[in-house]
Amino acid sequence: MKIAITGKGGVGKSTLAGTLARLFSADGFRVLAIDADPDANLASAVGLTPDERKQLRTIADERALIEERTGAKVSEVGQVFSLNPDVTGIAEKYAVRHGGVDVLVIGAAQRAGGGCACPESVLLKSLVRYLVLKRDEVVILDMEAGIEHLGRGTAMGVDLMIVVVEPGQRSVETAHRIREMSAKLGIKKVAIVINKSNAPQEDRAWMETEFADAVIGQIPFDARIAEADRKGKALVDLADEQILAPFRAIYSQLGHINKELS
Ligand SMILES: Nc1ncnc2c1ncn2[C@@H]1O[C@H](COP(=O)(O)OP(=O)(O)OP(=O)(O)O)[C@@H](O)[C@H]1O
Ligand SMILES: [Mg+2]
Repeated sequence: MKIAITGKGGVGKSTLAGTLARLFSADGFRVLAIDADPDANLASAVGLTPDERKQLRTIADERALIEERTGAKVSEVGQVFSLNPDVTGIAEKYAVRHGGVDVLVIGAAQRAGGGCACPESVLLKSLVRYLVLKRDEVVILDMEAGIEHLGRGTAMGVDLMIVVVEPGQRSVETAHRIREMSAKLGIKKVAIVINKSNAPQEDRAWMETEFADAVIGQIPFDARIAEADRKGKALVDLADEQILAPFRAIYSQLGHINKELS
């Protein structure tokens, strides 16, 4: 199953992505968790130790790799280069494994106008497409906040787009836009997860009027979740079933969606 996790800034995308990755892995799946947010922070949500995080290299910054695979110099403009670079073996070489989850950090092309067809952006896009389409395991993409990346097509080919929503008008508006764009991109299924909910019943009712049966789960506001982030710990490593319960409920919904899709 290939899942992209999106939503407005700060709604809890990385928390959900990291926790789901660990739940899939605990269930015996091979999992590749891809941090596709230039402001990368998925690694701590997966639970990588500070030492493991130091081992992570950001693909966008691997100049030699980009030049080798695209046949073009990163710093020069106006070159001819491969628009279909060979991206095999990159995930295997650069991912760092923790708790059975392979974490890969993509980063962002540094040039102004991220949509440019420069060698680095071509390589990053080809790599993500390849991993989404070719890997036969679970792939979870932690996306950049907002909607701009959707236009760049980074999440194209995923089976499921999860939009995390905080009960608030602006987050809801972003979620509607993500849903519309996902449909245009041909993404088969879009699901909504409510996070940081303080009024479970009212929030659920409101989100269901907005998104109907796309709502697949609800995570309460829980100070222990923010505390885990302050300590750089994965929620799964807190071993507190009360905190994990809403994530497990979402995980089991994914099982149903996967059956529906296949
Ligand atoms: N249910 C929750 N209750 C309390 N705090 C939460 C909850 N979910 C997430 N948080 C906290 O909110 C902050 C933002 O969460 P997270 O980093 O997962 O969001 P994000 O959408 O990935 O953010 P960004 O857009 O910056 O990448 C973190 O400190 C996290 O611990
Ligand atoms: Mg994040």
